[in-house]
Amino acid sequence: MNPVFADVDTGIDDAMALIYLLASADADLVGIASTGGNISVDQVCANNLGLLELCRATDIPVSKGADRPLSGGWPARGNVHGPKGLGYADLPPTERQLTSYDAVAAWVGAAHRHRGELIGLATGPLTNLALALRAEPALPTLLRRLVIMGGEFGSDTDPAAEWNIRVDPEAASEVFAAWAGQQRLPIVCGLDLTRHVVMTPDILARLLSAAGESALVRVIEDAMQFYFEVHRDRGYGYLAYLHDPLAAAVALDPQLASTRAAAVDVTLSDPATRGTTVADWSGSREPNVRIGIGVDPAAFFDRFIERVAALARRIGNPRSA
Ligand code: BDR
Ligand code: CA
Repeated sequence: MNPVFADVDTGIDDAMALIYLLASADADLVGIASTGGNISVDQVCANNLGLLELCRATDIPVSKGADRPLSGGWPARGNVHGPKGLGYADLPPTERQLTSYDAVAAWVGAAHRHRGELIGLATGPLTNLALALRAEPALPTLLRRLVIMGGEFGSDTDPAAEWNIRVDPEAASEVFAAWAGQQRLPIVCGLDLTRHVVMTPDILARLLSAAGESALVRVIEDAMQFYFEVHRDRGYGYLAYLHDPLAAAVALDPQLASTRAAAVDVTLSDPATRGTTVADWSGSREPNVRIGIGVDPAAFFDRFIERVAALARRIGNPRSA
């Protein structure tokens, strides 16, 4: 079993990523760091605890992290995930509590406890990880693998920077710099990769029919309906990109994505392009990441449906039981 530590800003697709990890027999989720991002850090904490309750997970430690980016200022937030971060979905109440230590201590502690074995996954702004690196500069050698959802590396770029990097460009810059020249480079899944992983109503129907009636599936359905509508309203069609679940799947199995080494910089000073990621593929500079450049979405969805449906069947429908 692979020890996994997830740093999230839950968020609809972060929730789906956590559910995927909880559904995966090859993953041992040893800790969750919460960061502000899609919504406030307190709501992210509540969502993480509620999701663990919903999935009847063992007592996985959830830690509170950054409530603001390193620069102190937030970019404008759209209503991409709904007021509580999970669209139309409601999570069950829970008695579960946050850890007494914060997300930075959680990152560093997990990396030391699982030295050389820990898989890190970051699907939100990188503030917690940047602060953890300041506290423990050896993190790049302590982790077995790091997978980040963030950035945009294609030619068909949006004018706006990708959200996770845009929220905290300084943190992203510190994280990428820390891995320069390291042996095990982080795998970065940018929008140009994750937008190949398109959840549609048909794929959701496959999941629902494989899972049967279940409290988990109801939450997924309600969250996805909101996410479909947000994508439709932004002109993408009635579908939803599963950015963070792809990163989670790559964290467990890097073979799911083909990658290429590059030296990535984050634009910090120019307000018009702040938070954009600039990749140098030439090989003339020391690489600091491996950028995901190819994925087989069908393979991802087969795996996602099989695992999440099995978890949903195990959970069943406690409220009507
Ligand atoms: C990223 O931004 C957030 O809205 C999603 O959760 C994902 O991590 C995609 O740009
Ligand atoms: Ca996210």
